[in-house]
Amino acid sequence: IPVEPFELVIFGGTGDLTRRKLLPALFHRYLDDQITDDSRIIGCARSEMSREAYAEMAREACIAATSDSDWTDDAWDSFAKLLDYQQLDISAPKKEWKPLRSKLSLDDRACIYYLATAPALYVQICASLKKAEMVTSASRVVLEKPIGRDFDSAAKINDGVCAVFDESQIFRIDHYLGKETVQNLMVLRFSNTLFEPVWSRHHIDHVQITVAENLGLEGRAGYYDKSGALRDMVQNHILQLLCLIAMEPPNSMDADEIRTEKIKVLRALVRFDEERARTHTVRGQYAEGLVNGTPVPGYLDDLGEPNSSTETFVAIKAEIDNWRWAGIPFYLRTGKRMKRRTSEIVIQFKNVAHSIFGSNGEDANKLVIKLQPDEAVRLFLHIKEPGPGGLRIKSLPLNLSYAENFTVRYPDAYERLLMDVVRGNLALFMRRDEVEAAWRWVDDLIAAWEGVDKKPDDYTAGSDGPVSSAMLLDRDGRSWWQGQSK
Ligand code: BG6
Repeated sequence: IPVEPFELVIFGGTGDLTRRKLLPALFHRYLDDQITDDSRIIGCARSEMSREAYAEMAREACIAATSDSDWTDDAWDSFAKLLDYQQLDISAPKKEWKPLRSKLSLDDRACIYYLATAPALYVQICASLKKAEMVTSASRVVLEKPIGRDFDSAAKINDGVCAVFDESQIFRIDHYLGKETVQNLMVLRFSNTLFEPVWSRHHIDHVQITVAENLGLEGRAGYYDKSGALRDMVQNHILQLLCLIAMEPPNSMDADEIRTEKIKVLRALVRFDEERARTHTVRGQYAEGLVNGTPVPGYLDDLGEPNSSTETFVAIKAEIDNWRWAGIPFYLRTGKRMKRRTSEIVIQFKNVAHSIFGSNGEDANKLVIKLQPDEAVRLFLHIKEPGPGGLRIKSLPLNLSYAENFTVRYPDAYERLLMDVVRGNLALFMRRDEVEAAWRWVDDLIAAWEGVDKKPDDYTAGSDGPVSSAMLLDRDGRSWWQGQSK
């Protein structure tokens, strides 16, 4: 279904995110007839550039992100007509915003300002939009992560943006929420009768959330070294996954119903002090090693700085103090340069109360939700291994593989999220209080780590992370899920 015509201004219109994600996402939505020919996309950046040069830059970006079978020059030519470019120094005075303003109709069609710039510029851009009289009730603003680097800086950004836009006009993106399999988490939980009755401390032993990457810094050393894995991945993506797993059923799919349930989880997370940080968390940093058989340097060499103690891996035993989850660990881990790229959630159920078969050496039931790659949902059940020789029990999965069941192309997360912005649907975006609650929890941990003042543990690139990460679970008599072959 086509969305209503809209106008979209991308600040940071020549940047990496715009080229890698935003323009290709828009082009794919156009190919699927979701964007009508009377919509407009205006890239905005500091450099001088003609409209034609911008369209050419966009063409190269879109070719790189489109399969040969989807690409047609005709479709591109008509999409390119939507594109425009405006040179603008965002610190420029009001009169220099006029050319951009004159490109907008500022009527009742959605006018979206996408801030794909450094977060330090968000407040200034919003204030300038207001001064230039470019904010109406049809305006929307999209903020990329990171929103701040701690609670105070996030609050400052939120104050500045909220002084110009109403909360209902602010779309704080976490691209994990746009992933197909992440959206499926809610469907899995709230559309199946099977899971909800057992979705609690009474039947679940623990939960594991892993987001492992085999990539390293990818040219973002400057940003990453100031950030680290906790700020880069846990404060946003991993906590969002945790919320979707742990939240109470919302009353409806209404954005605020969902966001209200998520924030209750964030507020119930047990906070850190130094003692808890020591016993419940692991920081790691990759050393040289082999990733997929290719030798890669360690973090410090990648960075070109011998003294950084930024973590590229983090593992956390998190706990949620509420009726549903009290006492149940949520083991979270994420890292760069790990063995393989995989994001998955494991819901480990408890053993049966009394096994009439004696010990069978197999884990209890588990639900494995593979978010990427090889998207799948696997429910591991015990079955009797066929054969006459005694009663042997095996754990095997009911296997719902996306690839085997759906032959459609999975849209990139940004495709879904951008169209939701146009539709004004806030359900997959973070509310101010969510972002701030997540920072409060993360801030405590950072302060505790600073107090403990311990260098991150080394791990070999291409491994599962530092040994201390395995120990974190080993101490509880548990281990990280190693995949189906186990
Ligand atoms: C980003 C982080 O938010 O997410 C990156 O800044 C990370 O460091 C990326 O690589 C992972 O996203 P995805 O979609 O590739 O899992």
